[in-house]
Amino acid sequence: TQHFIVIGNPIAHSKSPEIHQTFAAQVGIDISYRRQYCPDDTASFNAVVEAFFNGGGVGANVTVPFKQLAYASCQSQGGLSEHARVAGAVNTLLLVSDDSSKDKTLYGDNTDGQGLVNHMMSLDWPLTNARVAIIGAGGAARGVILPLIQAGIGQLTLANRTLSKAEVLVDELSAASNAINEHAVKTCATSALTGQFDLIINATSIGLSGDTLPIADDLDCHYAYDMMYGRALPFLQHFAARGAQTSDGYGMLIGQAALSFERWTTHSIDVTQVTTAIQASKK
Ligand code: ATR
Repeated sequence: TQHFIVIGNPIAHSKSPEIHQTFAAQVGIDISYRRQYCPDDTASFNAVVEAFFNGGGVGANVTVPFKQLAYASCQSQGGLSEHARVAGAVNTLLLVSDDSSKDKTLYGDNTDGQGLVNHMMSLDWPLTNARVAIIGAGGAARGVILPLIQAGIGQLTLANRTLSKAEVLVDELSAASNAINEHAVKTCATSALTGQFDLIINATSIGLSGDTLPIADDLDCHYAYDMMYGRALPFLQHFAARGAQTSDGYGMLIGQAALSFERWTTHSIDVTQVTTAIQASKK
């Protein structure tokens, strides 16, 4: 049995164990995958990670509020993938062998953004040269910008309630990645985001809260994606009523999990089949 955990706070409602067990069943391997609560401080987080890997654990997922702490641990102790480095956040931990010694070091990847891109590709949403707007300038937006640019999108606009936060984020990302720097990402206030886009992504933390985004009357898109998941997301309802195709972020959740699982086990996952199986089990 290979052992895995997801570390978070709160963690009781994480769907990761169910998703990863479905992957394991699909490829025919035996795993345990459990939820790991952790107090919200650096020392506790590092102790949990160390105990897990010292005990023979294969891989850990990291969720709110520990993704930045996991990034810091990997930066100081081991290594980071390009996606984790640019995102400033890690959602996937594993041990890698250092070529020069027999020691294993902690390595962090971030599969969130690629999980989003893979989900959109599975929906046949056209990304090549697409005019894209992302609303939000927090951790969620930060993690998806490089993977979207690598997927070949065209003009990208980053909109945020607080314009200065969008500007700072674009400056930081442009310094961290040549691909982002060359892409010349535009910024604007969310209320000033107007006109026609191919794709608009909601990367704010609004989700199901009573708040609504200040969306301009003449803002339109062919495809609207909310990184949150659940019923009746106001952002998706708004654009569906205007004729757009819409999706919530449940497929992104499965997509990021599949990439973590593939990285840990080297088995590849048929994500569409898993999504169908999980949805059927809920009926
Ligand atoms: P996350 O890591 O989930 O992205 P975050 O870093 O706290 O979370 O960022 C939350 C994002 O949601 C920000 O872009 C925030 O806008 P501000 O930078 O202006 O705060 C956005 N957000 C949260 N609540 C909002 C609201 N009521 N209206 C508009 N934007 C909101």
